[in-house]
Amino acid sequence: MGKKVLVIGGGGRCHAIVDALSRSPQVEKVYAAPGNAGIASQAECVPISVSDIDALLAFARENGIDLTVVGPEGPLAAGIVDRFRAEGLRIFGPTQSATRIESSKEFAKDLMSRHGVPTASYRTFSDFGEALGYVKSGPVPVVIKYDGLAAGKGVVVALTYAEAEDALRDMLLDECFGQGRVVIEEFLNGPEFSFMCLVNGRKLYPLAIARDHKRAFDNDRGPNTGGMGAYSPVPFVTDEIRETALRTILRPVADAMVEEGVPFTGVLYGGLILHNGVPKVIEFNARFGDPETEVVLPRLESDFYALLDAAVDGRDFETEWSELTTLGIVMAAKGYPGKYDKGYVVRGLENAGKVYHMGTVEKEGKILTAGGRVLMPVASAPTLAEARAEAMKAVNAIDCSGLFFRNDIGAREA
Ligand code: AMP
Ligand code: GLY
Repeated sequence: MGKKVLVIGGGGRCHAIVDALSRSPQVEKVYAAPGNAGIASQAECVPISVSDIDALLAFARENGIDLTVVGPEGPLAAGIVDRFRAEGLRIFGPTQSATRIESSKEFAKDLMSRHGVPTASYRTFSDFGEALGYVKSGPVPVVIKYDGLAAGKGVVVALTYAEAEDALRDMLLDECFGQGRVVIEEFLNGPEFSFMCLVNGRKLYPLAIARDHKRAFDNDRGPNTGGMGAYSPVPFVTDEIRETALRTILRPVADAMVEEGVPFTGVLYGGLILHNGVPKVIEFNARFGDPETEVVLPRLESDFYALLDAAVDGRDFETEWSELTTLGIVMAAKGYPGKYDKGYVVRGLENAGKVYHMGTVEKEGKILTAGGRVLMPVASAPTLAEARAEAMKAVNAIDCSGLFFRNDIGAREA
């Protein structure tokens, strides 16, 4: 019998997951909670919030869901996987304690240091004076990170001591982040890439490498965002670099989590940097990356449901990937990642090819903007340059006054 899948989330990552699942011959029905206007054309959207675990659990039970896939970190950090498993429901994602690899920088850093995984040196502080003393005893640039889930915005790369002091003041004295604790890190310099692996304990199912563009504006200027565009594969990440990253980073971390009694199941996302030719860890996430998933899954030629199903059971599975490059450009609401307006009408989608919806609603037959990141046209072509040209064409076909985008996604190879 055909499988029923529930995808939790309402962004572009979930649209890409739904899209990949709907290509699976085994899948009969995909539900998305809550989904969005684009997802609604490929799945049945159910109006349940990602944080309402009781309602999600009841929905999965009552609708005979064979597998639940979790998009965002919130429900994972709240223990959705533990709750589903306790009721005997199949779910793909990490337990609450394993999610700490993402939700606590300190947990991640301590684990890496105990197991010799290459990453920036660091120290943790909660006292402003001590933190400032430590910063002043070392070089700038220096990286200051708030310890906790901060939606990609709790990181400051301070170029001067004055900038570092301001950041420490914000995070430790003004309590603008809620609770005061910071990780101060050595600054690493080099091109970044994202390496996601499906994991079950010691077993890894590597996905294709992608590159994200985190800053809001062209030429990597402006504030850090969740990601403004991505592409896959990434020319500077050779097979050798990929193998080194697997051998020195992803495998040892998966093994370490088993050895420390918090086995990881789900997507282990390595945010890596090539520092003097050596891959090192910037951060881990415990979920599919967004927008990386939107450019990685279109390249997957294997049955995505079969892959997830194998990963949940820890069975062997060989993945096959298209040789084409997939590139996507995020169209975000003006003002994002700060304050922005919603409710702008989007036109021209029918001329833009494949477009993942990141934050949209439908009202009276019109598609309206409903989030910070709104749309992500993606294009696939034999080369990065061609994929970029196609994606730019798609972006220009979309007509919406309230959006902005980067013009340089994929414009440089490193
Ligand atoms: P994170 O939230 O930890 O991924 O940090 C967000 C961004 O800040 C990263 O994608 C990097 O561009 C930058 N960053 C974080 N840590 C470092 C570091 N140790 N050295 C250089 N850049 C960093
Ligand atoms: N694109 C980075 C993330 O998903 O956090």
